[in-house]
Amino acid sequence: MKEKKIEITYKAVEPEELSDEDRELIARAREMTYRSYAPYSRFHVGAAIRMADGSIVSGSNQENAAYPSGICAERNACWQASALNPGMAMKKIAIAARNVGDMPKGEEDKAPFQAQPISPCGACRQSLLEYEHLYGPIEVILFGADATYVFPSVSSLLPFSFTEF
Ligand code: THU
Repeated sequence: MKEKKIEITYKAVEPEELSDEDRELIARAREMTYRSYAPYSRFHVGAAIRMADGSIVSGSNQENAAYPSGICAERNACWQASALNPGMAMKKIAIAARNVGDMPKGEEDKAPFQAQPISPCGACRQSLLEYEHLYGPIEVILFGADATYVFPSVSSLLPFSFTEF
Protein backbone atom coordinates (compact mmCIF):
# COMPACT_ATOMS: atom_id res chain seq x y z
CA MET A 1 0.00 0.00 0.00
CA LYS A 2 1.27 3.41 -0.92
CA GLU A 3 -0.17 6.53 0.58
CA LYS A 4 -0.38 9.45 -1.83
CA LYS A 5 -1.03 13.10 -1.25
CA ILE A 6 -2.51 15.89 -3.34
CA GLU A 7 -1.55 19.46 -2.53
CA ILE A 8 -3.02 22.65 -3.89
CA THR A 9 -1.53 26.08 -3.79
CA TYR A 10 -3.66 29.18 -3.64
CA LYS A 11 -3.11 32.81 -2.75
CA ALA A 12 -4.75 34.85 -0.02
CA VAL A 13 -4.63 38.34 -1.50
CA GLU A 14 -5.19 41.79 -0.06
CA PRO A 15 -7.41 44.10 -2.09
CA GLU A 16 -4.48 46.38 -2.96
CA GLU A 17 -2.57 43.41 -4.40
CA LEU A 18 -5.21 42.84 -7.09
CA SER A 19 -4.86 44.31 -10.56
CA ASP A 20 -7.43 46.90 -11.69
CA GLU A 21 -8.85 44.28 -14.06
CA ASP A 22 -9.33 41.75 -11.28
CA ARG A 23 -10.90 44.39 -9.05
CA GLU A 24 -13.29 45.14 -11.89
CA LEU A 25 -14.14 41.44 -12.27
CA ILE A 26 -14.83 41.12 -8.54
CA ALA A 27 -16.93 44.28 -8.62
CA ARG A 28 -19.06 42.71 -11.36
CA ALA A 29 -19.46 39.48 -9.37
CA ARG A 30 -20.49 41.54 -6.33
CA GLU A 31 -22.93 43.55 -8.40
CA MET A 32 -24.50 40.36 -9.73
CA THR A 33 -25.48 39.34 -6.18
CA TYR A 34 -28.05 42.15 -6.39
CA ARG A 35 -29.55 40.47 -9.48
CA SER A 36 -29.92 37.03 -7.93
CA TYR A 37 -33.38 35.43 -7.79
CA ALA A 38 -33.18 33.39 -4.60
CA PRO A 39 -36.49 33.62 -2.71
CA TYR A 40 -36.08 30.07 -1.35
CA SER A 41 -32.51 29.99 -0.02
CA ARG A 42 -32.14 33.78 0.32
CA PHE A 43 -28.49 33.22 -0.54
CA HIS A 44 -27.48 35.61 -3.32
CA VAL A 45 -24.49 34.61 -5.43
CA GLY A 46 -22.81 36.48 -8.29
CA ALA A 47 -20.18 35.31 -10.76
CA ALA A 48 -18.23 37.14 -13.46
CA ILE A 49 -16.02 35.60 -16.13
CA ARG A 50 -13.20 37.40 -17.94
CA MET A 51 -13.15 36.20 -21.54
CA ALA A 52 -10.03 35.96 -23.74
CA ASP A 53 -11.08 39.12 -25.62
CA GLY A 54 -11.23 41.07 -22.35
CA SER A 55 -15.01 41.20 -22.13
CA ILE A 56 -16.92 40.10 -19.02
CA VAL A 57 -19.87 37.70 -18.94
CA SER A 58 -21.69 37.47 -15.62
CA GLY A 59 -24.48 35.55 -13.94
CA SER A 60 -26.36 35.16 -10.67
CA ASN A 61 -28.15 32.23 -9.09
CA GLN A 62 -31.71 31.76 -10.25
CA GLU A 63 -34.01 29.58 -8.18
CA ASN A 64 -37.34 27.93 -8.94
CA ALA A 65 -40.31 26.60 -6.98
CA ALA A 66 -39.30 23.20 -8.38
CA TYR A 67 -36.00 23.40 -6.48
CA PRO A 68 -33.69 21.31 -8.69
CA SER A 69 -34.63 23.48 -11.67
CA GLY A 70 -32.66 26.40 -10.24
CA ILE A 71 -29.11 27.18 -11.26
CA CYS A 72 -25.98 28.46 -9.50
CA ALA A 73 -24.37 31.76 -10.44
CA GLU A 74 -21.22 30.06 -11.75
CA ARG A 75 -23.01 27.77 -14.17
CA ASN A 76 -25.31 30.58 -15.26
CA ALA A 77 -22.19 32.63 -16.07
CA CYS A 78 -20.15 29.92 -17.82
CA TRP A 79 -23.04 28.65 -19.92
CA GLN A 80 -23.86 32.19 -20.99
CA ALA A 81 -20.17 32.76 -21.73
CA SER A 82 -20.05 29.71 -23.97
CA ALA A 83 -23.38 30.44 -25.63
CA LEU A 84 -22.45 34.04 -26.40
CA ASN A 85 -18.84 33.32 -27.38
CA PRO A 86 -18.57 29.75 -28.66
CA GLY A 87 -14.94 28.63 -28.81
CA MET A 88 -13.57 31.55 -26.79
CA ALA A 89 -11.37 30.86 -23.74
CA MET A 90 -12.54 31.86 -20.27
CA LYS A 91 -9.56 33.28 -18.39
CA LYS A 92 -10.86 33.96 -14.88
CA ILE A 93 -13.99 33.68 -12.81
CA ALA A 94 -14.76 35.81 -9.75
CA ILE A 95 -17.44 34.76 -7.24
CA ALA A 96 -19.15 36.71 -4.45
CA ALA A 97 -22.13 36.06 -2.19
CA ARG A 98 -24.49 37.72 0.30
CA ASN A 99 -26.73 35.85 2.71
CA VAL A 100 -29.90 37.95 2.83
CA GLY A 101 -31.62 35.46 5.13
CA ASP A 102 -31.70 37.75 8.15
CA MET A 103 -32.88 40.82 6.28
CA PRO A 104 -36.55 41.82 6.32
CA LYS A 105 -38.34 41.41 2.98
CA GLY A 106 -37.64 44.40 0.76
CA GLU A 107 -34.34 45.16 2.50
CA GLU A 108 -32.32 42.32 0.98
CA ASP A 109 -29.92 44.75 -0.71
CA LYS A 110 -28.68 45.85 2.72
CA ALA A 111 -27.22 42.41 3.52
CA PRO A 112 -23.41 42.50 3.61
CA PHE A 113 -21.07 40.27 1.62
CA GLN A 114 -19.99 37.00 3.18
CA ALA A 115 -16.95 37.63 5.36
CA GLN A 116 -15.23 34.45 4.11
CA PRO A 117 -15.22 33.52 0.41
CA ILE A 118 -17.71 30.94 -0.82
CA SER A 119 -16.46 28.18 -3.02
CA PRO A 120 -18.25 26.77 -6.08
CA CYS A 121 -20.25 23.56 -5.68
CA GLY A 122 -19.09 20.32 -7.29
CA ALA A 123 -21.45 20.58 -10.26
CA CYS A 124 -20.17 24.09 -11.05
CA ARG A 125 -16.55 22.94 -10.77
CA GLN A 126 -17.26 20.09 -13.19
CA SER A 127 -19.05 22.45 -15.62
CA LEU A 128 -16.24 25.01 -15.56
CA LEU A 129 -13.65 22.25 -15.94
CA GLU A 130 -15.13 21.30 -19.30
CA TYR A 131 -14.15 24.72 -20.70
CA GLU A 132 -10.80 24.63 -18.93
CA HIS A 133 -9.94 21.37 -20.68
CA LEU A 134 -10.90 22.89 -24.02
CA TYR A 135 -9.28 26.32 -23.71
CA GLY A 136 -6.76 26.34 -20.86
CA PRO A 137 -6.67 27.27 -17.16
CA ILE A 138 -9.44 29.36 -15.65
CA GLU A 139 -8.23 31.25 -12.58
CA VAL A 140 -10.77 31.23 -9.74
CA ILE A 141 -11.09 34.33 -7.56
CA LEU A 142 -13.20 33.82 -4.45
CA PHE A 143 -14.19 37.11 -2.88
CA GLY A 144 -14.99 37.57 0.81
CA ALA A 145 -15.27 40.83 2.75
CA ASP A 146 -12.44 39.67 5.07
CA ALA A 147 -10.42 37.45 2.70
CA THR A 148 -10.00 36.87 -1.02
CA TYR A 149 -8.48 33.68 -2.39
CA VAL A 150 -7.07 33.08 -5.85
CA PHE A 151 -6.77 29.55 -7.25
CA PRO A 152 -4.70 28.94 -10.39
CA SER A 153 -7.27 26.72 -12.10
CA VAL A 154 -10.59 24.91 -11.73
CA SER A 155 -8.77 21.57 -11.75
CA SER A 156 -6.93 22.62 -8.58
CA LEU A 157 -10.36 22.68 -6.92
CA LEU A 158 -11.45 19.38 -8.43
CA PRO A 159 -8.85 16.65 -8.26
CA PHE A 160 -9.83 13.29 -9.73
CA SER A 161 -12.54 14.88 -11.82
CA PHE A 162 -14.57 12.97 -14.36
CA THR A 163 -13.12 13.85 -17.72
CA GLU A 164 -13.76 11.18 -20.31
CA PHE A 165 -15.60 7.95 -21.01
N1 THU B 1 -25.19 28.72 -5.10
C1 THU B 1 -24.51 29.32 -6.11
O1 THU B 1 -25.08 30.05 -6.94
N2 THU B 1 -23.18 29.12 -6.17
C2 THU B 1 -22.46 28.41 -5.26
O2 THU B 1 -21.25 28.31 -5.39
C3 THU B 1 -23.13 27.75 -4.14
C4 THU B 1 -24.60 27.84 -4.12
C5 THU B 1 -26.64 28.98 -5.01
C6 THU B 1 -27.54 27.81 -5.31
C7 THU B 1 -28.78 28.20 -4.54
O3 THU B 1 -29.55 29.09 -5.33
C8 THU B 1 -28.24 28.97 -3.35
O4 THU B 1 -26.93 29.41 -3.70
C9 THU B 1 -28.18 28.18 -2.06
O5 THU B 1 -27.49 26.99 -2.22
